[in-house]
Amino acid sequence: MTDAIPVITVDGPSGVGKGTISQLLARKLGWHFLDSGALYRLTALAALRHGLALDDEAAVANIARNLDVEFLTAEDSDVRIFLEKQDVSSDIRTEKAGNSASKVAALPAVREALLQRQRDFAEPPGVIADGRDMGTTVFPQATRKFFLTASPAVRAERRYKQLKEKGLDATLHSLIEEIEQRDERDRSRRASPLRPADDAVIIDTSVKSIDEVLDEVLSHCGEIVR
Ligand code: C5P
Repeated sequence: MTDAIPVITVDGPSGVGKGTISQLLARKLGWHFLDSGALYRLTALAALRHGLALDDEAAVANIARNLDVEFLTAEDSDVRIFLEKQDVSSDIRTEKAGNSASKVAALPAVREALLQRQRDFAEPPGVIADGRDMGTTVFPQATRKFFLTASPAVRAERRYKQLKEKGLDATLHSLIEEIEQRDERDRSRRASPLRPADDAVIIDTSVKSIDEVLDEVLSHCGEIVR
């Protein structure tokens, strides 16, 4: 499959800084970036827009398989995401979309339907893959694997700031509850549960700045990033 193409996986629960670190890494190295969570969010959004129940496994898998999605990089290097030709970049970032994503992500047929689409992101010169099961299932042969963690309070706080910056509504209390529920669902599902790969480097980001985490990640990448 993608053996010759370098892959760095960055997994972990929400709010640990995966997205930020992965994007900075991709930009620094000039590699591709796979935001796998966006694919689950898009699947959930498309399913809801087509009036499907989120537990209708066959129908939702069908949506995932035929997802009409485009990732377009704007001039300011911001990535805009289009679903069925409509810009859904903000719609997929709400907590509701995150929760719906975690429901459809628990369905094995949906994960299977998105597998190849994710692997297709591995193109030269390399890819940074951000998600929950990048190192365990999607890219088990990855060159380097990272698993980021942070305390639930720190993660809720970060999420709160992110949402506020985007002008989205949220309360800290409901965020903590939603994060805990979503984590529990992601960890306990049978298909590709959230867990570190045996060969992943685990980094607790609770009291680290973005630069410190990035430096730590790079220090484990050695030859690959030179
Ligand atoms: O990372 P993000 O918050 O965008 O992911 C949304 C949801 O999608 C997660 O809570 C998780 O349930 C699901 N997901 C997954 N596997 C991935 C990426 C995301 O199950 N590789």
